[in-house]
Amino acid sequence: MADTTKKEDFANEIIPIPETIEEGVQHVNNPVLDLPRIEKQYLTTVKGYTQDRNVFYFTDGRAKVEIKVFSEEIIRVRLAPEGVFLADFSYAINYKADQYINYQLAETETHYLVKTNAVTCYIQKDNFYVSFGDTDNKILNADFAPMHWEENVDYGGYYVYCTKQAQADETFFGLGDKASNLNLRGRRVRNWNSDTYSYAFNQDPLYKTIPFYIGVTDGDAYGIFFDNTFKTFFDFAAEHHDQTSFWSEGGELQYYYIHGPQMLDVVKRYHSITGTHYMPPLWGIGYHQCRWSYYPEAKVRDTANEFRKREIPCDAIYLDIDYMDGYRCFTWNKRYFPDPKKMIADLAADGFKTVVMIDPGIKVDDQYWVFKQGQENNYFCRRGDDYFMEGFVWPGRCQFPDFTNPEVRTWWGTLYKGLVEDGVAGFWNDMNEPAVFGRGTFPDDVRHQFEGHRGSHRKAHNIYGMQMVRATYEGLKKLYRNKRPFTITRAAYSGTQRYSSVWTGDNIATWEHLRIGTLQLQRLSVSGMSFCGTDIGGFTGEPDGELYTRWMQFGVFSPFMRVHSAGDTRDREPWSFGTEWEVICKKFIELRYKLLPYIYTAFWQQHRYGDPILRPIAMLEQHLAKNLQREEEFCFGDHLLVSPVLHPGQLNKIVYLPAGAWYYYFSNQYFVGGQEHQIDTPLDEMPFFVRAGAIIPEFPVMQYTGEFKIESLRINYYYAESSVESYIYSDHGDTFAYEQDVYMDKHFIAEGSKQSVSIRQAEYGLYTPNYSSFQLYFIGLPFTPKQITVDGIKVNLQQDEEGASYVQIDRDFKKITLQ
Ligand code: NOJ
Repeated sequence: MADTTKKEDFANEIIPIPETIEEGVQHVNNPVLDLPRIEKQYLTTVKGYTQDRNVFYFTDGRAKVEIKVFSEEIIRVRLAPEGVFLADFSYAINYKADQYINYQLAETETHYLVKTNAVTCYIQKDNFYVSFGDTDNKILNADFAPMHWEENVDYGGYYVYCTKQAQADETFFGLGDKASNLNLRGRRVRNWNSDTYSYAFNQDPLYKTIPFYIGVTDGDAYGIFFDNTFKTFFDFAAEHHDQTSFWSEGGELQYYYIHGPQMLDVVKRYHSITGTHYMPPLWGIGYHQCRWSYYPEAKVRDTANEFRKREIPCDAIYLDIDYMDGYRCFTWNKRYFPDPKKMIADLAADGFKTVVMIDPGIKVDDQYWVFKQGQENNYFCRRGDDYFMEGFVWPGRCQFPDFTNPEVRTWWGTLYKGLVEDGVAGFWNDMNEPAVFGRGTFPDDVRHQFEGHRGSHRKAHNIYGMQMVRATYEGLKKLYRNKRPFTITRAAYSGTQRYSSVWTGDNIATWEHLRIGTLQLQRLSVSGMSFCGTDIGGFTGEPDGELYTRWMQFGVFSPFMRVHSAGDTRDREPWSFGTEWEVICKKFIELRYKLLPYIYTAFWQQHRYGDPILRPIAMLEQHLAKNLQREEEFCFGDHLLVSPVLHPGQLNKIVYLPAGAWYYYFSNQYFVGGQEHQIDTPLDEMPFFVRAGAIIPEFPVMQYTGEFKIESLRINYYYAESSVESYIYSDHGDTFAYEQDVYMDKHFIAEGSKQSVSIRQAEYGLYTPNYSSFQLYFIGLPFTPKQITVDGIKVNLQQDEEGASYVQIDRDFKKITLQ
């Protein structure tokens, strides 16, 4: 028998959701239309099922639920209220379900069970609850109510709802760029990409829609990806302490259950279906300098020269909207930039890449070639009654390409040709929520082609920015031929990582925002968007030297490292706050360059295996309940741990170090992990630790990536009495040859004991780097080695100029032993 009491109680409780009522549902009580109130409808009892290989359809006689085994660890659930599913289409998913998985259906008196070797999905017969557990019958995620829906009388389709049980200890992570504490328990959030200038802590929604969360309960993690592009909502035990709900204003109730039990594996599996970032060009992870805007040309050149004169490394300089002619995209303001090609070439000769802004709003101007082409080909979005979607942005009245139309995307990609020929190396897509002055965004009735699955702006809004940057990326990929594009976007939907990096938009120059930035980047990273950064220094407002410098320190450990600020702010270059701060900023930007081979390897692990680049403590030690609430320490890649300084005048900081042992980077002091330590935080240092046992490659300081060839690569071994694996990845740095295995991927296993160390390496890939040897440094050795052998041959320790000892060894050594 169905548990109807519970169902009805629930129905009464969940309907009054303020945001939903304000923003769409009020029609149900509309006195003018005199519409009847539409009641929520629930799945009832399971009447039977059919099976088509790895897809099972359960029905209550009217509605259907599809359970599709995507992989051993991923199961998708879809609901069709009237038994008819929408076409199976997703902008996020980049994966075809594996047909060769082991799965089986079992039936008990009370349940159907869809089982793989890792997951069991339970469908309860009497109430249609869907639950997921592991193979030991431990339930990780269970329905609190049957899936339900409500007809949308205005637009057709349904508001769709799913409500799960929230366990008393359960914590929740993910959801993209939310400016909130890492654990989302107790919060209700929504996804509706929004231009949120100077946003505040807990302000919601922001620029991106990543409807993916990770739940951790009793030490085990699972993920839910609610793949729905309409305005979506998530309630993490906010309205009811024992329930987690997600719902949408349209589309299908379609979600993926992603098994863990490790958080790290959940994120990797989420990446396995939504894709990862391609390898960025190496220069893309160097230091970037931006402001709104550097112009005219003399200002750009002076800024670049100043970097070189002061010997502060920098790889890229950005041109914000003022480089354009009247803010017309793909044009130059020739008064400010009379000869852009020459300027860009000169900058390039000095090691600077030029990155420029492109917005989606195209000026309504029948003398402007982009507008004319868009008009002639019917590429711009139209309103419900067929008039153009017009709105005001920087150039004045604009029309907007429909990026959900593949033909429009192809066209958009070709528009970059001129700028690429001028030498522009990277592109920055902004205002693509899409933002429209005055009204915020497009009205709901705007129509979109949506890859043939037509829909209104309600459906296309949250993927508009993603499809814009996709068009940009795909066009650039053709224009640059085998060279990797560099793209950055403000708006995004799940899967955008396949096309672009992201930044967190218009933050503020306050200490609070520095802290918010550390939360946002950790969150983006566990939400599938690892290539992320904040506007270092804060976009609006004025930081003082201390805030700017502390933010720069955090910037070193941000996957994307760029200083940016608004048009009305004072100078923001690393030297703008006086020598005291310049010296520290320089030291830290140099640190970024030293760490580049390590960071590049972290990007490879992200690209290849879906490892998030920033890993919160919760992810490292999810079995320790107290660590699920920690937010100030995080790992940057496998082996570096940082805890940015987030307060002015802070002299020291309590830092938790995960289990194992750690070396403080600036002094090589040894710390035992699994506990907190008080760490001094002088202005020119920050809590930054290296995992004992790790091998960390280090570049010499250079002014820009590729400035000179490295003959011998420094690698630092941090001694541990244990066995630790480390990696070094290298490739051309700017081509797609790595897709054909033209890369070098070295795996090291370092084993330390009280009196000996051995390091073995294995290598994969077809790439030969410039350097032919390593300079292997030893940190923290507890003994003085009497004998060192490399592949059976004795070698001697050497001393560098600073008196530190190292051995010079062939790049392809198999095993080195110290005794
Ligand atoms: C808004 C962006 O968020 C900001 O980074 C940019 O500088 C301005 N638009 C001007 O293009």
